[in-house]
Amino acid sequence: MSGSAIFVACSTLPEGDGDEHAVPEALADLGFKTRWAAWDDTTVDFGAADIVVLRATWDYAERHDEFLSWTESVPSLSNSAEVVRWNTDKSYLAELGDAGVAVVPTTLIAPDDKAPSWPKGEFVLKPAIGAGSRGAGRFTAGDAAAAHLSGLQADGNTVLLQPYQSSVDSDGEIALVYFGGVYSHAFSKAAMLGRELDESGLYVTEKLAPVQPAAGFRALAEDALDATAALLGILRAELLYARVDLVAGPDGRPLLLELELVEPSLGFRQTEPAAAWRFASAVRQQLA
Ligand SMILES: Nc1ncnc2c1ncn2[C@@H]1O[C@H](COP(=O)(O)OP(=O)(O)O)[C@@H](O)[C@H]1O
Ligand SMILES: [Mg+2]
Repeated sequence: MSGSAIFVACSTLPEGDGDEHAVPEALADLGFKTRWAAWDDTTVDFGAADIVVLRATWDYAERHDEFLSWTESVPSLSNSAEVVRWNTDKSYLAELGDAGVAVVPTTLIAPDDKAPSWPKGEFVLKPAIGAGSRGAGRFTAGDAAAAHLSGLQADGNTVLLQPYQSSVDSDGEIALVYFGGVYSHAFSKAAMLGRELDESGLYVTEKLAPVQPAAGFRALAEDALDATAALLGILRAELLYARVDLVAGPDGRPLLLELELVEPSLGFRQTEPAAAWRFASAVRQQLA
């Protein structure tokens, strides 16, 4: 087998942040030629590639409709346009919660809803459609929270309200990475809120480290993927890549903070070279 792959990024960072350096090499070993392209580069024929892999499209949040139309125009997109539509709106957390997955308690506030009564203690307000921690803030009840909420709403956002999970400050988030529905590796991510945006302006720079997730974390990630596949009516194996971001809740048990099926950093630099080989293998499986 041989073929061609396009890895998709954005015009500001047309080859992503460098994390997947080893993946095109791993794909070349299996007979695939890879090139990078920005999703909005109209000179690129995305239909000509055997597989088009979303990797670093970090500017889609402000151009969500345009981005979704583009995903629908690409014949062999991974993950699929349907998955992208569902996963780019964090309202999916409520669906997964209803399906029995342990998610961080999430209240959705529509653009024309009035401010809720604020929870006791610290909480997070963030846009339902957002990436790279942009628009996310940590608050206690008061004017700053009200101003942040109304600012996001004025821009047309549905807003997520969640209790701040303080384990993020001590243990960070645990990101579990899956290729073709199968576990590959994990890494931890230090707390993001209050840190600076990268010079690209697209994301808050992440502080990552390798980690061996505890059994309860691995089990919850499996539950989240099974529930997602059931909700979308697909097989887990159809998900070329998935990153499940978990935090320890107040009682120490894991909770789902985010399920990334669009443009997660996959932490190849935090793990062994075989992770790139597993990704390449999963790409080939999508085409088999
Ligand atoms: N409920 C929360 N408790 C603690 N930290 C949070 C919470 N929600 C978000 N954060 C912090 O904000 C970051 C960005 O939020 P996230 O939901 O992952 O959105 P995205 O990564 O798509 O911007 C997280 O990586 C985490 O550090
Ligand atoms: Mg995140």
